[in-house]
Amino acid sequence: MSDFEKLINRFKDKINNAHNSLELDKIRSEIFGKSGLINTEFKKLGSLSPDDKKKIASEINNAKQELTKLFNQKSTGLQDTEIDEQLKKEKDDVTLPEKDFSIGKIHPVSQVIDEISSIFSEIGFSVEEGPDVESEYYNFTALNTPENHPAKDMHDTFYIEENMKTLLRTHTSPVQVRTMLKGKPPFKIIAPGRTYRSDSDQTHTPMFHQLEGLHIDKNITMGHLKGCLNYFIKEFFEINKIKMRFRPSHFPFTEPSAEVDIGYRIENNKIIIGEGDKWLEILGCGMVHPNVLKNSKVDPNKYQGFAFGIGIDRLAMLKYGINDLRSFFECDYRWLNYYGFDPLDVPTNYRGLSK
Ligand code: DAH
Repeated sequence: MSDFEKLINRFKDKINNAHNSLELDKIRSEIFGKSGLINTEFKKLGSLSPDDKKKIASEINNAKQELTKLFNQKSTGLQDTEIDEQLKKEKDDVTLPEKDFSIGKIHPVSQVIDEISSIFSEIGFSVEEGPDVESEYYNFTALNTPENHPAKDMHDTFYIEENMKTLLRTHTSPVQVRTMLKGKPPFKIIAPGRTYRSDSDQTHTPMFHQLEGLHIDKNITMGHLKGCLNYFIKEFFEINKIKMRFRPSHFPFTEPSAEVDIGYRIENNKIIIGEGDKWLEILGCGMVHPNVLKNSKVDPNKYQGFAFGIGIDRLAMLKYGINDLRSFFECDYRWLNYYGFDPLDVPTNYRGLSK
């Protein structure tokens, strides 16, 4: 056996006898490191004749391959044993105190959208959605809005492009047209979502929420509209009797149009909904204008129906006694912890939101 072979065998033994990854790592640099075995042997080649050079170089390369293979096998073996040992040692200590964690609360707006959607779904409405970034056409023109309508003014509407063709929708009504264009009558839908207007004070924020309703069929009348809204308001405020009035109004997309007020009174600084002699406006509605039906490819001589638009944030404020709309969107965790709702599945070690 040549000296070189003896040397290689010594290193093979070393690898085989390594007890752990740390030891093996040291052996790695002894063999493959910058001044380790292999490099040292290659450096010796310089002084040899061309023929010997070729022979010895191939011997070194073969040895390198063998050592690498052996090294990798050993390394995997050691790592497996070490992981097994660690797993044996690491046990769960069930006497330790539980980890403290907090989960979020449901925002009143999300809660109210869920409540309203479930009330309407009970009477056969399904939920539709439309985009926040809307075209001028769906937001205004298709809804029979005249060119000079004040809502189209820059002061009220956020336009995305200077040519005023794209905007942030100012109401959820465009979903009416989008829904009718993609299906066939009858339609019975609600569409909750974000809406935008250039406005800000205690009861207005530039972004707010609306819920659109649309029911189109062959014989739908204002009687159905009244019945539907009456049912909704009673269910939403969880009261048996409701004072409600339809006030004549105007919207380009309905004829006739009405605004709906509900009766209320104040008792001990609290608002009591459904009775009393004060009135509060909560939504706009009406019978869908024939032009809107035409623009939506629905024949107004065969079909008719009603639509309504509810201000979701205002309903949330009323139902849950929140008096500043702006607080809804300030992302204050203390506020959310107070006014928010627990999700249905609350883990037992839930300790509230704010720390
Ligand atoms: N889009 C109206 C608004 O934002 C609300 C509205 C009124 C919606 C009457 C309707 C409707 O669907 O029929 O002020």
